[in-house]
Amino acid sequence: MAKLTLKDIDLKDKSVLVRADFNVPQDDKLNITDDTRIRATLPTLKYILENGAKKIILMSHLGRPEGKVVAKYSLKPVSVKLSELLKEPVLALDECVGDKIKEGIAAAKEKVVLLENLRFHSEEEANSADFARQLASLGDVFVNDAFGTAHRAHASTEGVTHYLKSAAGFLLDKEIRYLGSAVEDPKKPFMVILGGAKVSDKIGVIEHLLPKCDAIIIGGGMAYTFLKAQGKQIGNSKLEKDKVELAKSILDKAVSLKKEILLPQDHLVVDKIDPQAATEIVDDIPEGKIAVDIGPKTISAFSQKLKDAKTIVWNGPMGIFEMDAFSNGTRQLAESISTIGATTIIGGGDTAAAIAKFKLEDKMTHISTGGGASLEFLEGKALPGIAALTDK
Ligand code: 3PG
Repeated sequence: MAKLTLKDIDLKDKSVLVRADFNVPQDDKLNITDDTRIRATLPTLKYILENGAKKIILMSHLGRPEGKVVAKYSLKPVSVKLSELLKEPVLALDECVGDKIKEGIAAAKEKVVLLENLRFHSEEEANSADFARQLASLGDVFVNDAFGTAHRAHASTEGVTHYLKSAAGFLLDKEIRYLGSAVEDPKKPFMVILGGAKVSDKIGVIEHLLPKCDAIIIGGGMAYTFLKAQGKQIGNSKLEKDKVELAKSILDKAVSLKKEILLPQDHLVVDKIDPQAATEIVDDIPEGKIAVDIGPKTISAFSQKLKDAKTIVWNGPMGIFEMDAFSNGTRQLAESISTIGATTIIGGGDTAAAIAKFKLEDKMTHISTGGGASLEFLEGKALPGIAALTDK
């Protein structure tokens, strides 16, 4: 069922309660090191301001403070960054519920106020009805733009929707459109690139996408459990012993569905995971060696296969891209898909970080702001933060 979006609701003179995902990375001095998620919310906030709203009451979590006030997880630095980007004063409050907050919002000269970290209260993650009601009482209407948190049924994502008319913001709507159409109605050939450390993280995605796609390309740490399942030597590379049988059954299923699964043919190996370690390219991984990236033959085979794709979904890097010495496979694959004119959809988290590191953001069709949320979406699960919004 289609959900209300921002353009469906009347904003005039309304106090608009907006859930954003401002869970952004910070350094030791609490400087925000990646403001993508804040920037991604600007179209929604600007539209609300331009369409006559009385106030925007913004709420978010930051980190996992587990129901306690933890100074380093305060949203104050976010309010400063947001104000700079939005070019609008933002009042940061030091709580998120209570009478004082209501008074603070009423008295504020600023049109935009940011509540303090919701997860300073355990009731947020417990989805307490009372806490949700208190949050809902701060606005006349609710807009959810927190795609990154849409897989959590929390008071500020699911709970509040029981008390207010609830619409998707532009970011949430865009994520649903790109990830949704890629999965449900992709232009063919549809190819999926999966990587990252663990098979167990990607099982759900493989099961959901294998019948829908034409090929799955597997690299990164998870590839070695698949190679083991094919009887290959993997040295000391990442292995999930208890997933070898599962990997075998996925490979068999691909054969019976006439889908291709491509695995690495050669590898960059080291003795120990250290950026200074001596590297070697091998086809067969010798005893004691650890594969940390895909090799040149694999890069070329993967790129060749992807050349024909019309839709590509990519989730998970091909190697330990955070270390420059082991980033070549991920970088080259990113560069090659950036030139082929396919719809390229990058699942968030590590893959988004890799694309940012290689400065290829502008070359991809869509980079999701969700890590866990985009994974669950690609698994075909209903995300509670989306499911709870008001139907059209
Ligand atoms: C994320 O960064 O994936 C979201 O903000 C959700 O955070 P969480 O995994 O702590 O719920």
